[in-house]
Amino acid sequence: MHQRTLTIIKPDGIQQRVAGDVIGHFERAGFRIAAARLVHLTKAEAEGFYAVHRERPFFASLTAFMASGPCMPMVLEGEEVIARLRTLMGATDPARADAGTIRKLYASSVERNIVHGSDSPESAVTEIRYFFSDLDLV
Ligand code: CMP
Repeated sequence: MHQRTLTIIKPDGIQQRVAGDVIGHFERAGFRIAAARLVHLTKAEAEGFYAVHRERPFFASLTAFMASGPCMPMVLEGEEVIARLRTLMGATDPARADAGTIRKLYASSVERNIVHGSDSPESAVTEIRYFFSDLDLV
């Protein structure tokens, strides 16, 4: 199925200057970039994005990290892109991620894991809308 998904190159990816490498992984996978921006989230904006995790013990730390510097939300498009992006990213915890995945290559911890990807078609719609309007989608 042709899909769109939201990815975010997180503040650790921008700070480590691997955004270009991560985008290269997206491009080599054949994903089409439909939108991209650079944004420095406020703590409240990070909390809004990760609202489904608000009861988790790592919520305060995660949202502080996401507000710690600029990040790069992007919309990717392609056949089965939601699942394919998650395979390309690797497991949430880089220590458990398969060799060659983005998180295995670049991430330093389960929290500072370089990249986000929507986990379902429903969350993709919500998450894309959080950062982009219809007019932004090319
Ligand atoms: P992401 O795919 O963006 O979705 C939720 C984020 O919460 C996840 O990536 C990690 O950055 C973070 N996260 C998930 N589990 C943990 C954990 N056990 N400890 C700290 N952060 C976590």
